Amino acid sequence: MHQRPKHRRTNQPKYVESTCKRLARQKNMEIYFELTGLTSLPSDRNYWTLCNVQDSSDGSEIVQMCNEGFLTKKQFHGVDFSRSIIKQNRKWHPKANWYCGDWLKVVRGHPEFRPALVYLDTLCFVDRKIILDVVVSTMSLCPVGTVLLVNGMKNDPRSKTICDPDKLITNIGNSIGSFELKKWAKRIRVFDYCGTGKTNMATFAFHKKD
Ligand SMILES: C[S@@+](CC[C@H](N)C(=O)[O-])C[C@H]1O[C@@H](n2cnc3c(N)ncnc32)[C@H](O)[C@@H]1O
Repeated sequence: MHQRPKHRRTNQPKYVESTCKRLARQKNMEIYFELTGLTSLPSDRNYWTLCNVQDSSDGSEIVQMCNEGFLTKKQFHGVDFSRSIIKQNRKWHPKANWYCGDWLKVVRGHPEFRPALVYLDTLCFVDRKIILDVVVSTMSLCPVGTVLLVNGMKNDPRSKTICDPDKLITNIGNSIGSFELKKWAKRIRVFDYCGTGKTNMATFAFHKKD
């Protein structure tokens, strides 16, 4: 029998209605500015994100970032497992780019994968192998100049387990080849932001410098 991967979640919050999410995305644009000195994406590069629902309200990621003048719809590339979400997003924003499938399967070898900013907005626990694998693989696919933002959960409210964010950074250092690792800025910033309910989230900011 086909089993749903463990990292797929069904009952997700409504991100378009979340003040925390809006603030986190605002922070992402600020981080991009701090790391690159740019207030918007270069015209020849794009934005790739794990997207969920992106309706036409100003609480959605795509509308928020376009309204800020940070990117254009054509620069927006959204990936999600959910076929219905992607189908609906395509109707709301036909000029943007939408892909249904697993992140790595979509981005690996994709001719449009020329990001300036990647938002790996996961709901994985920060100390697990699943997030490590996707981050390490994505790092090696990013062109020079990319800012890679990774979200993960710092605690599991159900089991009351706390996850150590430093573990992700240590594991990346141990897993990625030295040739790739030296292209990335040594200083990795970690920002906390509130999740929904009792979940604490962290955003890791990586920068592939030249
Ligand atoms: C936190 S939500 C995205 C929220 C959105 N970035 C925003 O700011 O509103 C993450 C979404 O990515 C999907 N997702 C998680 N891991 C994925 C993967 N490896 N491939 C494709 N979709 C994935 C989840 O199903 C979920 O819908």
